Amino acid sequence: MNEKIRILAIESSCDETAAAVVENGRLVLSNIIFSQIELHKCYGGVVPEIASRKHIEKISQVITSALTEAGMALQELDAVAVTYGPGLVGPLLVGVSAAKAICFAAGLPLIGIHHIEGHISANYIENKDLEPPFLTLVVSGGHTHLVIVRNYGEYEVVGQTRDDAAGEAFDKVARAIGLGYPGGPQIDRLSGEGNPDAIRFPRAKVEGAPYDFSFSGLKSSVLNYLNTCEMKGESVNRADVAASFQKAVIDVLVEHAMEAAEDFGLPRLAIAGGVASNSSLREAFAHACTQRGIAFYHPSPVFCTDNAAMIGAAAYYEYKKGQRSGLDLNAVPNLKLGER
Ligand code: KG4
Ligand code: ZN
Repeated sequence: MNEKIRILAIESSCDETAAAVVENGRLVLSNIIFSQIELHKCYGGVVPEIASRKHIEKISQVITSALTEAGMALQELDAVAVTYGPGLVGPLLVGVSAAKAICFAAGLPLIGIHHIEGHISANYIENKDLEPPFLTLVVSGGHTHLVIVRNYGEYEVVGQTRDDAAGEAFDKVARAIGLGYPGGPQIDRLSGEGNPDAIRFPRAKVEGAPYDFSFSGLKSSVLNYLNTCEMKGESVNRADVAASFQKAVIDVLVEHAMEAAEDFGLPRLAIAGGVASNSSLREAFAHACTQRGIAFYHPSPVFCTDNAAMIGAAAYYEYKKGQRSGLDLNAVPNLKLGER
């Protein structure tokens, strides 16, 4: 096997058109991200049809930039990896089609990657010493999963949300208090000006499932609070609402993750996904892990939100295991982690 395995990775599952070249799973040679956020802001969320069209417009340009920045010609690559699920079917199909076309034209192997496996693998990029087994909390716009990474590419989901994902809760609460889309970064910022103990929002537990999450009750509680204030003619301190809501989410995430790390005897914990870039969440995890002697890992914000470098990191380990996809690879919008 070649000493240096270089993989071109493509990600288009939601509203970021992204391509990257990654060497041996850990060295990012290029990481190009075209974010469509501005395009979807006025709708308060991602519009799938608009996202698909923009991906089509941008994908070739983004891939070319990734190759140019890495100083790589197609012939120098070892494989092409692409997110094939979960995500929005139209956006996913754009990336999958582009990857298949390149593989067919250049005679390269194709590797389909699970989006969450990508988020988890983002941790390998800057933490060169991180190796399985470890516990990981994936918190993004669509997912809230507690996963044990038994080995490279081997996952055991031990907990997940029963309703809203953590990022989804951030986005919905942000909208309710008049902040724009995406709400997570705005709540993160506004929380800095508020008192996290001003309002006591609920911390939900799921009966009989200690590692599962539920955020819909918390979201309703925030909405009820806002309605009650309005009915009473009381003014709302938005920073206090943001900070108190954020603390309620973080408390639950930290508590469940710590419980799982201790119950399963895992001395390493990594966080991943868009919400993992939240500054208070990172502080809370760092503190809780230090107290328990657990090593804590997290990617830089640019590798937390959607990007293709994380897909290239995941793909390296799949490549080494001999995992290859056929040119009949299709987008799978509801792909489960660990399924192929
Ligand atoms: O991982 P990601 O880019 O896309 C999905 O796979 O879903 O995550 C996007 C989510 C959005 O819900 C966004 O509001 C949230 O991550 N997010 C944050 C922060 N930055 C992004 N949530 C809280 N604090 C942040 N700083
Ligand atoms: Zn994502």
